[in-house]
Amino acid sequence: MKTYYVWPLGCQTNKSDGERVATVLERLGYHRVHDESNANVIAVIACAIRQSAVDRIYGKFRQWEQRQQAGDLTTILTGCVLPHDKQKLTPKFDLVFDIEDLPRLPLLLAQTTVEETVNLRDKMEYFDIEPLHNSAFRAWVPIAKGCDKFCTYCAVPYTRGRERSRPSTDIITEVKKYIERGYKDIHLLGQNVNSYGLDKPGQELRFAELLTAVAQLEGDFWIRFHAPHPRDFTADVIAAIANYPKLCKQINLPAQSGNNQLLRRMNRPYTREKYLALIDAIKAGIPNVSLSTDIIVGFCGETDEQFQDSKTLMEYVKYDMAFIAQYSVRPGTVAARRFTDDVPVAEKKQREQTLTAVLKRTFQENQLPRLGQTHRVLVEKYSKDHWLGRNEHQVTIEFQAPADAPLVGTFQNIKLNSVEPFRFVGIIQ
Ligand code: SAH
Ligand code: SF4
Ligand code: F3S
Repeated sequence: MKTYYVWPLGCQTNKSDGERVATVLERLGYHRVHDESNANVIAVIACAIRQSAVDRIYGKFRQWEQRQQAGDLTTILTGCVLPHDKQKLTPKFDLVFDIEDLPRLPLLLAQTTVEETVNLRDKMEYFDIEPLHNSAFRAWVPIAKGCDKFCTYCAVPYTRGRERSRPSTDIITEVKKYIERGYKDIHLLGQNVNSYGLDKPGQELRFAELLTAVAQLEGDFWIRFHAPHPRDFTADVIAAIANYPKLCKQINLPAQSGNNQLLRRMNRPYTREKYLALIDAIKAGIPNVSLSTDIIVGFCGETDEQFQDSKTLMEYVKYDMAFIAQYSVRPGTVAARRFTDDVPVAEKKQREQTLTAVLKRTFQENQLPRLGQTHRVLVEKYSKDHWLGRNEHQVTIEFQAPADAPLVGTFQNIKLNSVEPFRFVGIIQ
């Protein structure tokens, strides 16, 4: 039996791409294994966002080398790889391909390994390949590729290319299909989802219209999206989320920094004041909204005073969640060429801890008034001795029920009894 293992690093886009890579490998007769040491093919869907993600790949080579040499293992690399890393990684892999060439993977594999049959008819957009979902209730749906924003610290524009919107008819058809199959948690994906359609003015729906179209589909499901950008977050998007119950009242709005000089150096096209005005508009327009953010600490030249602006921004907004990252130089980006990575690692770590402490506080403050409420929870899994699910805000909720109860992928009402960072404990109603 020929076996494969898909290893997606990084964000949901990669998880989604990994599900499409799995489809192609299954069509070639490979069977999925959950332990990479039993796999004949390992497909790495790489992430370039931080050096640590790249280092995890380098860390595998010794393990793989012997098996590759013995002919037991074929390794494939795709996903986000910076040109700088591509040079070094390519000789270590049997096959490196651009994810947009996924329909050609059978052909490419046939050229590297032995005796594969090739289906040359497979010349289609890679989004048209039906993903092999890892989950029975959560589905990722890419709505756009690439990124044109060129934030100075970021690898993505160099790994994912220019921003292009996928046809809305394809997106809506795909969402409909998943809903009919019983999927409950649909995630629309793109690097700047709210720029959707702007690359095809007059010919394509705008983001708010796309949201409205999917929110009007029949069925019992939730819709979420990642990642919006503060720039094109228009009033009609806020109105759509407020008006349609199927659009989750949960928004991750990356701030990256609370300091205007830093924002400029990052090439983020807004000021602290504009960002906060947008937050105020979202809070006013969407009652009971849950907010989260991405923040980078220790970006080039960030002084302690400038860092304090990120802290006070977080205190003001009172996020439920924040993805706080220590700045990591990405070779080839504007920041790598023009600025100096001069904040010591220990200081970056300290700043990250400071912001994490703020987040813990604001999370508790936001959730305490919710104790005693009953929330609709999408149940995900039984883990050790309890069940886990998430509410519309994507906050984890733990509860008790028999381990063999058929709860995975169902909505349940859970009464919230206690809260700790970052989860509730509740009772099934
Ligand atoms: N397109 C999205 C998210 C992109 S990547 C957006 O603009 O918000 C996810 C997050 O990784 C970013 O929001 C940023 O906080 C973080 N990130 C990107 N490049 C980084 C780097 N060089 N070092 C540390 N964190 C980084
Ligand atoms: Fe990176 Fe900025 Fe594009 Fe987000 S918007 S993917 S942070 S360049
Ligand atoms: Fe990483 Fe690429 Fe996503 S760089 S965060 S996998 S878009």
